[in-house]
Amino acid sequence: MTIILGIETSCDETGIAIYSSESGLVANVLYSQIALHNQYGGVVPELASRDHVRKIIPLLDKCFTSAKIKASDIDAIAYTCGPGLNGALLIGAGVANGLAFSLNKPVIPIHHLEGHLLSPFLAEEKPSTPFIALLVSGGHSQLIAVNSIGNYSIIGDTLDDAAGEAFDKTAKMLNLPYPGGKYIAEMAQYGTEIHKLPRPMVERHDLQMSFSGLKTATATLITKLGGVGNMDRQTKYNIAKSIEEAITDVLVKKAMLALKATGISQLVVSGGVSANTTLRNKLSAITGTKVYYPPLQFCTDNGAMIAIAGYMRYTAAQYDYSFSVKPRYPLTSLDAI
Ligand code: KG4
Ligand code: ZN
Repeated sequence: MTIILGIETSCDETGIAIYSSESGLVANVLYSQIALHNQYGGVVPELASRDHVRKIIPLLDKCFTSAKIKASDIDAIAYTCGPGLNGALLIGAGVANGLAFSLNKPVIPIHHLEGHLLSPFLAEEKPSTPFIALLVSGGHSQLIAVNSIGNYSIIGDTLDDAAGEAFDKTAKMLNLPYPGGKYIAEMAQYGTEIHKLPRPMVERHDLQMSFSGLKTATATLITKLGGVGNMDRQTKYNIAKSIEEAITDVLVKKAMLALKATGISQLVVSGGVSANTTLRNKLSAITGTKVYYPPLQFCTDNGAMIAIAGYMRYTAAQYDYSFSVKPRYPLTSLDAI
């Protein structure tokens, strides 16, 4: 039996989980700093690091207690080494390396995006390679050809804002809390009218995306409809629906293009925006394609995706010991398993 501890601290979530080859995910604990950063309208890096320091050890204890295993029972410790906030990454890296040293166990640095890419392996229905991954989070909107685990080519990217960022910035215009994606999604359910918003680059036959124009168009629309302070609830619902339709249309169109261009028939969707139900409904309507998602609770940042990525790297003996963190870390620099 192999047991892996996973530690995620790249941004504003302290996530710790334990994955075992026999029982799958045996413990998963998460502390989200959303309430802390909400008052500033975005993540404040220094506050994030300090909160990770406060929460990580109690969470680690809670994780071991809930898994009913001792620290000495684990085989290796996986942690997010990048990309992410430097100070935040260092907290997870420090705890992972300190614990590994004291237990004399190996430590496995994990690329945060590889964690998101492999998170669908936590679900009942698992993909097999090759697959196309649509990775949509607060920081990324990428289409990745996963030829084998660890062999990643980025075939599509955003030229400016990420899809999650577009949700968050337009949500802010509607005075919604940070991060606003899930609030836009909740309000969009009640929308009855779709206003015209741009779907940038959707007519182009390449895999590039762009979402920054949506902010200006949304700001103009809000002003046209009387300003955010003067509109009724239904008008806000309609704007939320219009935003969600515009973003998801672009993502679906580009995912379809990527599948067609590569001839691959499996699609994996992960990252925070993969929790979006409208996106899921539109993707499931693509004929001839099987779509895989992480379990809903593992769409946004968590320790379980780091534990499973660590497990896959550990069993393939494909990892390098390192204490350094990499706030900038190209996905394509990984070694194939
Ligand atoms: O993967 P994630 O937790 O963090 C990053 O690595 O960025 O993704 C967070 C992003 C945020 O932009 C958030 O607004 C978005 O995911 N998000 C959603 C939904 N839930 C989270 N966007 C649209 N619909 C949702 N239901
Ligand atoms: Zn993430």
